[in-house]
Amino acid sequence: MGERAGRSAGRRRPRRRRPPRCRAAFGALTCASSAQAPRWAPKSTTWTSRPVSPPRPSTASTAHSSTTNDHQVVVLRAPELTIDQHLALAERFGEPEVHAFFPNLGDGYERVSVLDSEDGTRASMWHADETFLERPPMGTLLHAQVIPEYGGDTVWASCTAAYDALSAPMKKYLEGLTALHDLARTVELAYVRGHATAERYAASVAAARTTAHPVVCTHPETGAPTLYVNHTYTRSILGLPPAEADAVLAFLYRHMTTERFTYRHRWTPGDLVIWDNRCTLHNALPDFSGHRRMHRVSVLGAPPR
Ligand SMILES: [Fe+2]
Repeated sequence: MGERAGRSAGRRRPRRRRPPRCRAAFGALTCASSAQAPRWAPKSTTWTSRPVSPPRPSTASTAHSSTTNDHQVVVLRAPELTIDQHLALAERFGEPEVHAFFPNLGDGYERVSVLDSEDGTRASMWHADETFLERPPMGTLLHAQVIPEYGGDTVWASCTAAYDALSAPMKKYLEGLTALHDLARTVELAYVRGHATAERYAASVAAARTTAHPVVCTHPETGAPTLYVNHTYTRSILGLPPAEADAVLAFLYRHMTTERFTYRHRWTPGDLVIWDNRCTLHNALPDFSGHRRMHRVSVLGAPPR
């Protein structure tokens, strides 16, 4: 039976899809539905672009925040994005930071960190960026420069979707708990795996870069409750016996990173991924042997509450 005959038999015409409202926020950029849309963000989009236009002062940062609030992770195809445009786009969200320990481009571009597999800079553990800071980044913009032929995907997990899926008794249990986040934790994990020296571990402990954040935070813009612990920086839950805190954290880590809360991105050089660091985790998979080089700009956030 042909298409026309099928319609005449009473099938409803598919509704015309409205363009996502983030379209206007990025001006020259256009977007299309993603074949890899995360299950926890059904409106999430993959973006295709002409070269990104210079920032327009009239484009309010709130419009960009609205996009990441809606989708948590936004993928843009931006192969001709310059370093200045990358920074300018980040500035629409707020003030870009100088990263605590990653190398950067220097010469006035200290706010652009470089994650280069040939330098050994990888981020292959589940984490939110820099939660050991009192003011962790509110978001990060990662631009792919060199991508290996196979592997090196990044996976994101939604901590709001993970929170929503918890049982009511577990939500009640977590209410009011506070966790300690520690930069030395990530070096400790690397040291245990033989990827860091004892001297580097000792130096990270001596630096004592720790802070405490609620285990369940409220997203400052959407008001959504979100889990706020991660494998890489969270060391303990304050006030709980260590064995109990370890068991709770282990449960939460497994729960937060189950597949139904994740989105996996296969990078193409020129991709720019923007994510909300306040309500997602991410993990760069170390399953590659080629060269992988990324430019990263993170935007300062407020203390999680
Ligand atoms: Fe990261």
